Amino acid sequence: MSEALEVRGLRVSYATRSGWRGAVAGVDLRLERGAAHSIVGESGCGKSSLALALLGLVRTGGRREAASYTLDGRAWSLERPETLRELRGRRVGLLLQESAQALDPRLSVERHLRAALGAAREGAGRERVLELLARVGFDAPVDLLARLPHELSGGMRQRVQLACALATGPSYLIADEPTASLDALLARRIVTLLASLVERERLGVLMVTHDLAAAAELGGALSVMYAGTVVERGPARELLLAPRHPYTEALIAACAAREPFDEPLRGLPGAAPQGALERDGCAFAARCPLARGACRSSRPTLLKLAPGRELACPPRAEGAGR
Ligand SMILES: Nc1ncnc2c1ncn2[C@@H]1O[C@H](COP(=O)(O)OP(=O)(O)O)[C@@H](O)[C@H]1O
Ligand SMILES: [Mg+2]
Repeated sequence: MSEALEVRGLRVSYATRSGWRGAVAGVDLRLERGAAHSIVGESGCGKSSLALALLGLVRTGGRREAASYTLDGRAWSLERPETLRELRGRRVGLLLQESAQALDPRLSVERHLRAALGAAREGAGRERVLELLARVGFDAPVDLLARLPHELSGGMRQRVQLACALATGPSYLIADEPTASLDALLARRIVTLLASLVERERLGVLMVTHDLAAAAELGGALSVMYAGTVVERGPARELLLAPRHPYTEALIAACAAREPFDEPLRGLPGAAPQGALERDGCAFAARCPLARGACRSSRPTLLKLAPGRELACPPRAEGAGR
């Protein structure tokens, strides 16, 4: 049996005054157990919409559809409430950026974890709470039990959140910008921790990030998104060393210059589109130094370039193997 979470033809759209607007425009994605997969791209390209949809979630005003959704070899219907409950509660955990807001300021660490474990009775589940805290790297978990969220650092809160996400024993974890509010050192710790969960516990980890160094550190696969589609995919470290898509090159250059992705990328004209583009042609053509006529008239599809490498850029794909 293949142990993987696999979605095909995933689309997410949001209702606007002028009708439905695409945010994820037909993405295929495979996350294996015991493997990592990172998603990078500028703000607004659909990363969070994609990540949430993998849990069957959609933000207010949104809708999602997928041609197929398979978990560990079994097809799942994202339309049935009972399958969604099992998916979110047991199979796939979620870790969000805003850990500070996600924790209840009135509840201790122990109460958060007991709630996540479903051990509501006072005193119940203490051993399991301590075990979870140890799994996310706390050396002296007992000292933490009575603490309130504001008594913890940002990095500690994020690890408590991670412990909550792991409480139901999921096989997969979706982490949306898990390091965004942390300084470089703490961010690195979280990524190292995620990598160790992949290695030691065979967790399948999907990480959305602005940080290419974090994607390289986590390893596994990397998908680069632009305007709701994946434009390049491959083994993270290999792809970052030898990018093929002009957009990936621009992202890497911006990261090297320490420019935040939320700013317009300096090396490129124009701004990142918000959501998918309706017009024909490559969504990136307007900003691309390599664009030629055909790029503006037909939408490139993601094609296999080499084993494990995929690229949606015909001018570059033709040059493959040169
Ligand atoms: N609840 C919503 N209602 C309307 N539009 C939304 C909503 N959430 C996200 N969007 C739009 O969908 C696009 C993708 O958003 P998102 O998935 O959050 O991207 P990312 O995580 O890459 O920044 C953006 O254009 C954003 O404005
Ligand atoms: Mg996001």
